[in-house]
Amino acid sequence: MEHQKILVLDFGGQYNQLIARRVRDLNVYCDLKPCGMTVEQIASYDPIGIIFTGGPESVYEADAPRVPTEIFSLGVPVLGICYGAQLIAHTLGGEVVSAPRGEYGKRAVTRVGESPLFRGIPQTSACWMSHTDLIARLPAGFQTLAATEHCPVAAYGDPVRKIYGVQFHPEVVHSEYGNRLLENFLYAVCGAKGDWTMSNFVSAQIARLKERVGSKRVLCAMSGGVDSAVAATLVHRAVGDNLTCVFVDHGLHRKGEVEEVMRVFRDGLGMKLVKADAADRFLAALRGVSDPEQKRKIIGAEFIKVFEEEAKKIGAVDFLVQGTIYPDVIESGSGKSATIKSHHNVGGLPDVVDFKEIVEPLRDLFKDEVRRVGAELGLPDGVVWRQPCPGPALAIRIMGEVTRKKLQTLRDADAIFREEIARAGLDREIWQYFAVITDSKTVGVQGDFRTYENVIALRAVTSVDAMTADWARIPFEVLERTSCRITGEVKHANRVVYDITSKPPATIEWE
Ligand code: XMP
Repeated sequence: MEHQKILVLDFGGQYNQLIARRVRDLNVYCDLKPCGMTVEQIASYDPIGIIFTGGPESVYEADAPRVPTEIFSLGVPVLGICYGAQLIAHTLGGEVVSAPRGEYGKRAVTRVGESPLFRGIPQTSACWMSHTDLIARLPAGFQTLAATEHCPVAAYGDPVRKIYGVQFHPEVVHSEYGNRLLENFLYAVCGAKGDWTMSNFVSAQIARLKERVGSKRVLCAMSGGVDSAVAATLVHRAVGDNLTCVFVDHGLHRKGEVEEVMRVFRDGLGMKLVKADAADRFLAALRGVSDPEQKRKIIGAEFIKVFEEEAKKIGAVDFLVQGTIYPDVIESGSGKSATIKSHHNVGGLPDVVDFKEIVEPLRDLFKDEVRRVGAELGLPDGVVWRQPCPGPALAIRIMGEVTRKKLQTLRDADAIFREEIARAGLDREIWQYFAVITDSKTVGVQGDFRTYENVIALRAVTSVDAMTADWARIPFEVLERTSCRITGEVKHANRVVYDITSKPPATIEWE
């Protein structure tokens, strides 16, 4: 069954992905597309509603992004947010001017009159503002629906043509009733049915995969991360034993990870899962190397070699599964660099596998939707809520040369940190948290002995996309317990420090 769709036209604002995620969370499918779509393209996309996002430009400037006027004659409801609201007003003959003063942050917004857009929203509530222009005059047929102290038209609409604009950002959590406003637009204005649910997605996707793949052969590189795990599980549900997964054990995984992958996917789900035991090869290739970029290159190249050997044993396949997700698609579509994936460990696989087509069953999903699909498929929390792990894994959390001794110490220290974070119930709040073993030795005293060991550092950050990050304010008690346990239980650990640097100026990883 084809689901209803909302089209989110991207004018370059900072919250645009967030708008799309909010719409999806309200059980309506949407796509974020570049603002330059033609009316014909929009009509053939067949949306039940269109949202114009915010953007950095001023609508009255010559080179500001525009929309064709005919878009308003399609009979499809439109909601403009911030720049989008100004654009509608400007395009239909209203007036947008530079405001005497900009408004940034939380403001009280007061409703004027009645509108389906504000159903269930109190007379006055908090909204999030971020603008330097304002709408000075509305086009004919529109009425003001809300105002703030310095913004006479904070919301407006034409109930007949179903065209609305809001100057504030309903997608941001600081807009108290923002979610309700979006829900009203989707359900009360556009007539959404709420047919975008993960269980619908799973059944539709499995049917599609069955049809496309049928009895042909499929290969998937399983990294243990949530994207490849969910992609493989979906494909497995659809085609069973026609799928073969390859998991490369490079010896640099965190404690218990290799065992978990084998237990869940091979033993639990019965997947054909080949484990390539390559730890010795990777460690040999890394011997004597301490430069981080060098380590990355060696691991990347070795990974491709090992995978190629395994793929040769399997022979030609028809399909290669990739765990591409929607933010990767948006990023590559808008020409921005996909910073995170560019150094991802499975980047070069298509070159060494003999296959005909790529299958990307998750390319329409945001990360939180991937997790929900994982839960829907019955994958355990440990897999569904796994924090992102870099391709080179522990090798870039070991400063200097990677040795078995340092690996062992780091694995044990990291496992304790993970246990304590989970025990404190913080594991879903913190984006990434891990231990690092430094190359600096310090003196300690343990029992009656003087020790001289490498310092262990703990790193924990909050983030939404890994581009920027802040250090997590972990309660002292959790840090204390972690430190006591590491120095008490882990061999060769006599000192623990906590990293309190944001990104920028630091990066999340230490190497
Ligand atoms: P940084 O350290 O650059 O990390 O702030 C940003 C995000 O990227 C991950 N990361 C990597 N992922 N291969 C990967 O697949 C890598 O070489 C790599 N280096 C960093 C990091 O864990 C964080 O999520």
